[in-house]
Amino acid sequence: MAEPLAAATTAQHGQPDIVSKRDFLKLVTISGAAIGAGAFAWPFIASMNPSRDVLALSSVEVDLTPVQAGQGITVVWRGKPIFVRHRTEAEIKEAVDTPLQAMIEPVPDADRVKPGHAQWIVVIGICTHLGCVPLGNKPTDPRGDYGGWFCPCHGSQYDTAGRVRHGPAPLNLFLPPYAFESDTKIRIG
Ligand code: FES
Repeated sequence: MAEPLAAATTAQHGQPDIVSKRDFLKLVTISGAAIGAGAFAWPFIASMNPSRDVLALSSVEVDLTPVQAGQGITVVWRGKPIFVRHRTEAEIKEAVDTPLQAMIEPVPDADRVKPGHAQWIVVIGICTHLGCVPLGNKPTDPRGDYGGWFCPCHGSQYDTAGRVRHGPAPLNLFLPPYAFESDTKIRIG
């Protein structure tokens, strides 16, 4: 049986509420754990608050005017490379006409672009295999057999909709959140 502490408190209905040493030790232990957790959580949560420069880059406006058909540019959004490609009419036609069975992750071209802006493809430029940055946005870059992007790390290839057409990458390039502010301007994020 637990040994009562010398001090006793009076509880409801006038009954003495005896606090045992064991109960007291449990209370102390739990309180200490709570304080410890609080002390740990605060700097952790504080470190999750985005700094001002990160907030400033939470969205990026991109002027599309200088990007000619067939060209691509890379912008940085939240520390990630974003590929913006101006597709030619022939590239759009091929992307639309390619049968879904030919794809590793089948997705129609229409689901990869914004309605009325099929000439623009905007993808996160990180290979879905192990995270390399594929080539294909500079004029001198190889674009692979499908005209989009080529990842030199292990040879994955993407088409002009950013859909993986040759592995080992298992998934299409991810699409960032973005919207057209006008026909020549997008906002990413
Ligand atoms: S990281 Fe791109 S193919 Fe491996």
